Amino acid sequence: MKTIIEPFKIKSVEPIYFNTKKERQTILEKAFYNPFFIHANDVLIDLLTDSGTSAMSSNQWSGIMRGDESYAGSSSFFHFEDAVKKITGMPLVIPTHQGRAAERILFSILGGKGKYFVSNTLFDTTRANIEFSGAEGIDLLCNEGKQTSIPAPFKGNVNVKAFKKFITEKGAINIPLCIITVTNNSGGGQPVSMENIKEVKKICVENNIPLFIDACRFAENSYFIKLREKGYTDKTVPEIARELFSYADGCTMSAKKDAFANIGGFLALRNENLAQQCRNLLIITEGFSTYGGLAGRDLEAIAIGLNEVMDEHYLQYRIRSIEYLTNKLIAAGVPVVQPAGGHAVYIDAKEFLSHLLVDQYPGQALVGALYIEGGIRSVEIGSLMFGKYDKNKKLIPAQMELVRLAIPRRVYTQSHIDYVAEVIIEVFNKRNEIKGLKIIEEVPMLRHFTAKLKPTF
Ligand SMILES: Cc1ncc(COP(=O)(O)O)c(C=O)c1O
Repeated sequence: MKTIIEPFKIKSVEPIYFNTKKERQTILEKAFYNPFFIHANDVLIDLLTDSGTSAMSSNQWSGIMRGDESYAGSSSFFHFEDAVKKITGMPLVIPTHQGRAAERILFSILGGKGKYFVSNTLFDTTRANIEFSGAEGIDLLCNEGKQTSIPAPFKGNVNVKAFKKFITEKGAINIPLCIITVTNNSGGGQPVSMENIKEVKKICVENNIPLFIDACRFAENSYFIKLREKGYTDKTVPEIARELFSYADGCTMSAKKDAFANIGGFLALRNENLAQQCRNLLIITEGFSTYGGLAGRDLEAIAIGLNEVMDEHYLQYRIRSIEYLTNKLIAAGVPVVQPAGGHAVYIDAKEFLSHLLVDQYPGQALVGALYIEGGIRSVEIGSLMFGKYDKNKKLIPAQMELVRLAIPRRVYTQSHIDYVAEVIIEVFNKRNEIKGLKIIEEVPMLRHFTAKLKPTF
């Protein structure tokens, strides 16, 4: 059969509250043109993030009831530890309340002034935790990854040549680790090939630099490898994931993505000395090393979700549903990152709103227009999120001006997605009417979460 169906049935539903365009205009103004300030009940289709927004399975909900809430050594921790060890092959597993807690712990130990952390593209919280430690985050994405409209199979790859050059320039001693984000969230949800991971590993070994994986979407990345990389068609997703992690010395993960959990994360490591330092910090701010800021029931849900996510019927449906929306937009001439990524559709806002300058934040302007038109909440991944200022307070723009429509896992049906496509195409047809924005209030780090903006006219 040609039709790929959702590999689940729906047992429990939540209502969507409808509102009018006029009401949404007022809501957006009151929210200072920032989608993070909009109340969830004022949103029709919430594509702000795929993080923590998954629908859990009936099996995960039963796990929630079985959660062992003992302070130390709960059975749920051992289920969780076992699942992480089996997938990653890493013997030391440290739970955290979410991905950025794992990052904060890791980078406060390894970071500091004069250090550089190299990546394909660091996610916003990863970069913020690196910079908060005093170190610098360096994105060395392959050239194909920067061309939004040119399709290539592994646009999340690290630029290996640039990595070697960077080591020569800065010295391996100043690079405490290289971290590869799979899939590359800030770069269009694009996958990284096994070949690229192996090449990066080789360089890391030659220079004594540990290799880490930001593993939020390890299953989606593994499935792309199965589909697109020579030699992996007949391998199972768990086998591919296991090989991917075998090249790494450690990983951070937000379980809010490829573990279908509403909260949670972890650090998995091979080095006992580093693990001990991480556990010491964990106890200060997260909790004891067998719960790390999570309830036993969360650990149980994550353990189950980590196994469910590797089901190939699920992954086939997941990857295909992102492709379905991407292809509809391409057919209507909407500029999007091609090919489709693993968890989201990314609109090229610079191209979409080519009449706006980057310092008019085209991505954020488009986010607002999609909300007003159809109640769709999305997020800007561009100069509001990653832009910096030079000495004269002139904006140094981000590499790309994208709008991400992240699809929560197992939440929306095909008609929701058809509606989303219709709204985007409608906005595209009247794109010249969209005005730019300017920032009226911001904080120095992760400003996109709380920035206040207003139209430039
Ligand atoms: C690639 C990547 N790394 C890290 C994080 C941070 O995870 P969390 O939101 O659980 O702190 C995210 C979250 O979106 C992410 O996409």
